[in-house]
Amino acid sequence: MYSNQIEIEESVDQFSLFPGTRYMGSKNKIIYKMWETLRHLEFESFLDVFAGSNVVSYFIKAKGKEVITNDFMSISYYFAKAIVENSSTILNDDELNLLLETPSEKSFISETFRDLYFTEEENSFLDQVRANIELIDNEYKKAIAISALVRACMKKRPRGIFTFIGQRYDDGRKDIRKTLRDHFIDNVQDFNNAVFDNGTVCQANNTLSQDLNITADLVYLDPPYYSPKSDNDYVRRYHFVEGLAKNWEGLEIQNHTITKKFKSYPSPFSKRESAFDAFHSLIDRHKNSAIAISYSSNSIPTKEELTNILKEYKSDVKVYEIDHTYSFGNQNHKTGNKSNRVKEYLFIGT
Ligand SMILES: C[S@@+](CC[C@H](N)C(=O)[O-])C[C@H]1O[C@@H](n2cnc3c(N)ncnc32)[C@H](O)[C@@H]1O
Repeated sequence: MYSNQIEIEESVDQFSLFPGTRYMGSKNKIIYKMWETLRHLEFESFLDVFAGSNVVSYFIKAKGKEVITNDFMSISYYFAKAIVENSSTILNDDELNLLLETPSEKSFISETFRDLYFTEEENSFLDQVRANIELIDNEYKKAIAISALVRACMKKRPRGIFTFIGQRYDDGRKDIRKTLRDHFIDNVQDFNNAVFDNGTVCQANNTLSQDLNITADLVYLDPPYYSPKSDNDYVRRYHFVEGLAKNWEGLEIQNHTITKKFKSYPSPFSKRESAFDAFHSLIDRHKNSAIAISYSSNSIPTKEELTNILKEYKSDVKVYEIDHTYSFGNQNHKTGNKSNRVKEYLFIGT
């Protein structure tokens, strides 16, 4: 009986425990296809410069590699800290109770975001838990708590985004009816379950790609491509949870905006004028590593332009096509609409 149990535990697919989100541009749906290409490269260390949801990093960590993540969004950083860098620390029941039961006088969220995304009761819950997270002095436990709170808000929120106020897209999903408190408790469990040790020392970073002075055997680039057809402003989409992760420290809310968002972080990749130079300097910086780049067909630089940039720095450049229909969150994703058919590519430069 006992030995059976061990067998079952060992056969658990680590990646199936990844706490996924509907993060814009997430490679969740194509990670297995990407792996079919990446697995043939020789690498022990892996740098994910634009980690986003961290799905790629978590997958590669599950393959036993030393993973280094980076993203300028704090929500991405805390997820990475909680389940990529962290190999053994979990948030226990006493600490969860401390977060849930310690009274707090804080009212910033209730006052600033009244009637925008959540009910008054939910806002006070967020005020209380966010304040109590500061009582925890372990960086990994704190990262689990912040990530669980962020994912709870994303799950409870129609479409998981904060570009509109009210419940416009309330589709009656179970996740929307479930209380924020229950979402949070379940998410602490989900993040705890996702913690594992792959025998290497992984690391999470939270800086601009252009300021990251670390490299690895294989460097993976998945920047937000400029596209005239779609929005790639991460802060605009996720400002509320990003603010929550940072406790709005150092952020200036633009009070004239209906959504009460703060000013977007500047990224050279999201503007047509600066994207080319940004690619050149990033690829130049990592030219001694193998480089993998995710790319989708309706973006700038074009596929040919990006191939040429990569060829300036790497002697062997291959482009793999991974067909995939994106759901960008607009109304075009209804079945059969060809306008939303984006081809996804993986560039490999060695
Ligand atoms: C396409 S998403 C990455 C998605 C990720 N591969 C996944 O599977 O979830 C691009 C990410 O780049 C981040 N980002 C944009 N500009 C950046 C910059 N200059 N430096 C660091 N991160 C940046 C955004 O916050 C976003 O998370």
